[in-house]
Amino acid sequence: MKAIQLEKPRSFRRIEIAEPTVPVPGDALVRIHSIGICGTDYSGYLGKMPFFSYPRIPGHELGIEVLAVGEGVTNVKAGDRCAVEPYINCQNCYSCRRGRTNCCETHKTLGVMCDGGMCERMILPARKLHISRKLTFEQLALVETLAIGCHAINRGNPQPGENVLVIGAGPIGLSVVEFAKLSGARIIVMDMNDQRLAFVRERMSVSDTILAAGGGEALKRLSELTEGQLADVVVDATGSNHSMSHALNYCAFAGRLVYVGITQEPVSFPHAPLMHRRELTLVASRNALAPDFTRIIKLIEDSRIDTRPWITHHADFNGMIDEFPNWLKPETGVIKAMVAVE
Ligand SMILES: NC(=O)c1ccc[n+]([C@@H]2O[C@H](COP(=O)([O-])OP(=O)(O)OC[C@H]3O[C@@H](n4cnc5c(N)ncnc54)[C@H](O)[C@@H]3O)[C@@H](O)[C@H]2O)c1
Ligand SMILES: [Zn+2]
Ligand SMILES: [Zn+2]
Repeated sequence: MKAIQLEKPRSFRRIEIAEPTVPVPGDALVRIHSIGICGTDYSGYLGKMPFFSYPRIPGHELGIEVLAVGEGVTNVKAGDRCAVEPYINCQNCYSCRRGRTNCCETHKTLGVMCDGGMCERMILPARKLHISRKLTFEQLALVETLAIGCHAINRGNPQPGENVLVIGAGPIGLSVVEFAKLSGARIIVMDMNDQRLAFVRERMSVSDTILAAGGGEALKRLSELTEGQLADVVVDATGSNHSMSHALNYCAFAGRLVYVGITQEPVSFPHAPLMHRRELTLVASRNALAPDFTRIIKLIEDSRIDTRPWITHHADFNGMIDEFPNWLKPETGVIKAMVAVE
């Protein structure tokens, strides 16, 4: 059967791989229908993703159909459509035993640390499949991106009426915005790219945006918007260590700062005048948990999350290799590109 492999940075190729075998107890054989492309895939393509090894079949945002299940599987059956929770965890380590499966000590994300779903069929643990009777395969493939924002907001835990500042309006920042909205908090989005802020205002109905142009203007604007209090919850979704080091300045007294973006560079900030004086809480946010997937599917089914602004580009399996480099160009305005496996 066909698959697409990222052989080395900047080089995809079509390959033929062996059909998966019959699912063993606990596993399911699935057919992949839609694959969402995200920042991790772009970084892997560019050779900038430290957790990525080559050659690799990418694909971790998947809308699938169950073809067969192994013995003992009761949560799904042949014919079911599902989103995939692509975080393969050991179920044994300290984190897993405490239910923190998102940060398993030997965690592997499909398509990043092991081969993913850019192929026709594969075997997956059935416990990682989240069923929906209503969603399209593209909507199911979008669930994982949304789960990142859902978990980040759970970590920051904004309350109705509090101010939430989301820094970085890429797909991850936008997924944070979706759940910040549902929390009943007041939302402000900051980015240094005005095109992305325009998208947030026009397509995500967030009216308060701040252009981060350097200097102290952004902080002044945030202060004006929040009557001098600043943000109770700041979520940094930039992946920039500069932004992450500076983000404490935007936190209100007793505020919370969530790092959902990821950097390999050191992050540093003044302790006594900022972290200590304001008694801030700093939390990381990694991947997401199974209940996040269930919740998101229900939210989309109930039209409480509108997926229409999200899916901006499409390609079929054959066209993907040629289209992919275009999706890297900011002027194409890609939020989420979807690949169909027909
Ligand atoms: N926590 C997780 O499990 C998880 C999962 C997936 C991705 N991520 C990470 O989330 C981050 C964002 O991903 P994305 O796909 O949205 O990336 P992206 O590059 O599309 O978006 C980042 C946005 O931040 C803006 N930005 C950069 N520096 C800034 C600054 N100094 N001030 C203001 N805005 C700035 C950019 O203009 C851009 O719009 C990445 O670091 C990615 O690795 C985390
Ligand atoms: Zn992703
Ligand atoms: Zn584990």
